[in-house]
Amino acid sequence: MSLLVRNGRIITAADDYVADLYIHGEKVTLIGTKLDVEAEEVIDASGKFVFPGGVDPHVHLDLPVGAVISSDDYETGTRAAACGGTTTVLDFPTQERGRSLFEALELWHQKAHGKACVDYGFHMIVCDLPPGREAELDKLVEEGVPSIKLFTAYPDRLYVDDATLYRVMRRAADLGAVVMMHAENGIVIDEIVRAACAEGHTEPRWHALTRPTLMEGEAVHRCVAIARVAGAVLYVVHMSSAAALEPLRAARDRGQLVFGETCPQYLLLDHSLYEKPGFEGAKWVMTPPLRSKSDQAELWKALHMGDLQTVGTDHCPFCMADKERGRDSFVKIPNGAPGIENRMALLFHAGVRTGALTLNRFVQVTSTNAAKIFGLFPRKGTIAVGSDADLVIFDPERKETISVNNPRTHHMRVDYSAYEGFTVHGYPDTVVLRGQVIVRDGEFVGRPGCGQFLARKPFEEAVI
Ligand code: URP
Ligand code: ZN
Ligand code: ZN
Repeated sequence: MSLLVRNGRIITAADDYVADLYIHGEKVTLIGTKLDVEAEEVIDASGKFVFPGGVDPHVHLDLPVGAVISSDDYETGTRAAACGGTTTVLDFPTQERGRSLFEALELWHQKAHGKACVDYGFHMIVCDLPPGREAELDKLVEEGVPSIKLFTAYPDRLYVDDATLYRVMRRAADLGAVVMMHAENGIVIDEIVRAACAEGHTEPRWHALTRPTLMEGEAVHRCVAIARVAGAVLYVVHMSSAAALEPLRAARDRGQLVFGETCPQYLLLDHSLYEKPGFEGAKWVMTPPLRSKSDQAELWKALHMGDLQTVGTDHCPFCMADKERGRDSFVKIPNGAPGIENRMALLFHAGVRTGALTLNRFVQVTSTNAAKIFGLFPRKGTIAVGSDADLVIFDPERKETISVNNPRTHHMRVDYSAYEGFTVHGYPDTVVLRGQVIVRDGEFVGRPGCGQFLARKPFEEAVI
């Protein structure tokens, strides 16, 4: 199979030029102006941007949470990702307490196999690792999973104590595995939640009122300090507040290898949504919760200045029937919201159009930096000879109003949109995965199973 993309404006983390791209098989093989080559398919990209395929470092597909399961599976979730311009997703197999990491890994391989419409890799959620079992981490890295996620939140399910945190970080440091943290002080938060429940508070807005930003900041500070002592590379997921950014910035200024991720919801939405009438606020019950407009402004600044490196979605959708489980108490609302499809268009609209992000920075935060941090670069995250031909041909003039009722913007298997009514200026038209057109003029034309598992390399400081 060969493909020629003519006259697109090619944007990478560092470049911006108009050229032709020739793709043979799965790789970009030639880049130049007015290439004198024949191809089985030719796409005219005049007037369009050509971005590297998006890399979403944080999604939850087919994830059991208590009695419910996140509503997108590998087929529906990755199809929606593709339509939104994301060609690689990194998901989280979740260890069950007391069980081996490899049971979870095998289960997630089964969930994805034959269904994924974009390429995928895994980070392993570790919720216990008694002394003596650290060698499981070595095998994990050998199997292409060189990143581990730990929680200081959710004491009843996923929380790990500081001893486990340190032990995992020590081994991860030796292995070149990245330690990802969901950083919130879950112990204190649970006390605040208990008090709110005892006072009779039930509505969704109490989810936000019981999770103060300082408890996010405290946990980031603690994880940064433990990672420093352990010598581990740290990546803090879904950062939502100025309080969380403070210790991250301080660590980076000291030269510590610490990275930060935020999500479109923290950049674009705020806690006023919890004041919507009735139970509607449940749509945005996620952890951490939506914060204030001033937190938003700090996150944009950090993204612009390079204090934050990536934008993931934390896509974890639940239909309203599942959210209804928490009608009588906010603590029972499944945590998470949809967004896998909307990331690139929202970031382009709210970042590039407003001047908050340059085109190069947009590519860095939506693709290149995640590929570098998570051992996929230069296979993913750039457009270069020898890289996978994962491309987004993006029409800067196309306008779409994101809505659950707009079939061009909503392929996710969930009955609401977190961004209902947002009009975005700029949208992906055509998406290419390893040389195959999988989205053409906004229509998904790939097939379930065309996405491959990506065995990733350990962290390399030299590529950052
Ligand atoms: O509310 C959220 N974020 N659900 C997904 C799991 C997590 O904490 O990342
Ligand atoms: Zn989390
Ligand atoms: Zn998550």
